[in-house]
Amino acid sequence: MISLQNVTKTVRSGTEDLTILDDVSAEIPDGQFVALTGASGSGKSTLLGLIAGLDSPSEGMIFVDGENVTEMSEDDLAELRSKKIGFIFQSFHLIPSLTAFENILIPMEIRGVRDAAERAHELLEDVDLVNRGHHYPTELSGGEQQRVAIARAFANEPSILLADEPTGNLDSKNGKHIFDLMTGLHSKRDVTLVLVTHDPQLAAQAERQIVLRDGRVISDEMAVREGKPGLQVVQEI
Ligand SMILES: Nc1ncnc2c1ncn2[C@@H]1O[C@H](COP(=O)(O)OP(=O)(O)OP(=O)(O)O)[C@@H](O)[C@H]1O
Ligand SMILES: [Mg+2]
Repeated sequence: MISLQNVTKTVRSGTEDLTILDDVSAEIPDGQFVALTGASGSGKSTLLGLIAGLDSPSEGMIFVDGENVTEMSEDDLAELRSKKIGFIFQSFHLIPSLTAFENILIPMEIRGVRDAAERAHELLEDVDLVNRGHHYPTELSGGEQQRVAIARAFANEPSILLADEPTGNLDSKNGKHIFDLMTGLHSKRDVTLVLVTHDPQLAAQAERQIVLRDGRVISDEMAVREGKPGLQVVQEI
């Protein structure tokens, strides 16, 4: 469970304080698929970064599985991230000096996972990139790089996957492929998926949609479809 309690983020911009998240509260139960939407600059990436403990809120608290992320040391945060959280960035963030295979392998080796190489190979299979394992990121297309990033995010079997517009830089065919991979892995491994997207059609496939505007939650709704709970287009305010 992710619990956001009155989270506010203020940054100093020149001589002024700028509030980029304003009193955001939400509880995201285990295994839920949430779409986080809102206009550019509404605070989506900031919120995702706070959940991952990459940044800290100015006010409020964030709990991940009962642990207060806002009060953790850098070491404890790093451990939490490596154990529980997979993060997929919009711009892939692969390590350029490592091959696709190594990009997936290294997080597991750091964590001391047994049979890491075998598992890295399986993950390459999951994202359909077995014959690209020896390629460096510059030798891969955008969609392929994003698939490596997804495999890497899944390497430590996180219970939470945070994805910041993972399909934003891809054409619609590749975007759909990436989306299907993420939702497929989400249902197969029952991970909590928080997906930032600008695409209303993708957002509509989530179980829940949270909409931000100017750092505030303006809508937070579960999707309901007759006969198929949890799978309907969400009304936006
Ligand atoms: N470190 C910072 N200093 C000053 N302003 C910041 C900082 N980080 C973010 N902002 C501002 O906070 C607002 C929210 O940024 P954020 O990146 O969270 O938006 P977003 O919803 O992810 O937008 P996009 O859809 O364009 O990615 C923006 O107006 C941004 O300029
Ligand atoms: Mg963003």
